[in-house]
Amino acid sequence: MTVAFFDTKEYDRASFERAGAQNGISFRFYETRLTADTVSLAEGADAVCAFVNDDVNAEVIDRLVSFGIKVLALRSAGYNNVDLAAAYGRLHVLRVPAYSPYAVAEHAMALLLTSVRRIHKAYIRTRDFNFSLNGFTGFDLHGKTVGVVGTGKIGRIFIDICRGFGMRVLAYDKFPAPGSGIDYVPLETLFAESDIISLHCPLTEETYHMIDADAIAKMKKGVVLLNTSRGALIDAEALLEGIKARQIGAACLDVYEEESDLFFRDLSGHILSDDVLARLISMPNVIVTSHQAFLTKEALGNIADTTVRNLSRFFADGVCENEVCYRCGNEAACRKERKTRCF
Ligand code: NAI
Repeated sequence: MTVAFFDTKEYDRASFERAGAQNGISFRFYETRLTADTVSLAEGADAVCAFVNDDVNAEVIDRLVSFGIKVLALRSAGYNNVDLAAAYGRLHVLRVPAYSPYAVAEHAMALLLTSVRRIHKAYIRTRDFNFSLNGFTGFDLHGKTVGVVGTGKIGRIFIDICRGFGMRVLAYDKFPAPGSGIDYVPLETLFAESDIISLHCPLTEETYHMIDADAIAKMKKGVVLLNTSRGALIDAEALLEGIKARQIGAACLDVYEEESDLFFRDLSGHILSDDVLARLISMPNVIVTSHQAFLTKEALGNIADTTVRNLSRFFADGVCENEVCYRCGNEAACRKERKTRCF
């Protein structure tokens, strides 16, 4: 089986070559992202493998189907970059539901600690033999209130980590988990009472720009905002205004609304054309990492193993438990309940 692998990074190859060799799958690695302009590279392959910033829109899906390709294996949990309505009934979409929720939750805490203790500034200062502490006063996390939006796999691990720090945890989820011992509150209460807010819900039509100017106005002055989920949960321009108005005390962003043409690439010799991102990065109280939260050895191994297993299962019997839900609206007859594919 040959798989056209888009948006390849150096760190992907070793784990996928190993997992593929063990399962009779060979990969054609392409550094370019999958878009309508590059989709022709997939011709002749049996399947396509894509990541978070590949643009699997209706045109791309039409072309893949015309090449006789029946399956798209995402090496991510999120699938907001795939036009599921166009894929439904034509292109099977498989994903990796969890590769390391610990990696993402731990990264969120790493960002928070870096921000509140000014580690990003101290690192630069001491490299220049500047041992002054001026401007580095932080605050204890112990006793502070953290609001967690989305209490799935990652959100819950982040909650456990925060509890370990002695923080009070409030949470909001559209589908609260009964009996979880989590203190669920309405979103407005979470905004009003939290010293720190961390986003762990998926990007959907409903959650798009859930953090906008209105939401920011309801937050505590000086709130620290963490986003390791998806960029478009936050209206980046409203965030910038909130920071300039001192309403937001700090922002830690592993994802950015317009990241797809920027993140994962070395643009150090270029003029950044995104003024909002450039201004955010220039702020002393903003930390940006470029969609790095997942990047641990454990997660890369799990991503490769699960993606290859998904493809093997699919080609063996046409069924894969990690096929996405296409939200076809036929809930009464949803076959996902019976752990078979819904297509
Ligand atoms: P999950 O599916 O286990 O949990 C998501 C939670 O969000 C669920 O409890 C769900 O009920 C809740 N939710 C759904 N709609 C909501 C809404 N409208 N309002 C509030 N909550 C809502 O997902 P998991 O594994 O915890 O991942 C969370 C997100 O993290 C993913 O959607 C993905 O976007 C992001 N992610 C980011 C990575 C990175 O490297 N930065 C890596 C992996 C995931």
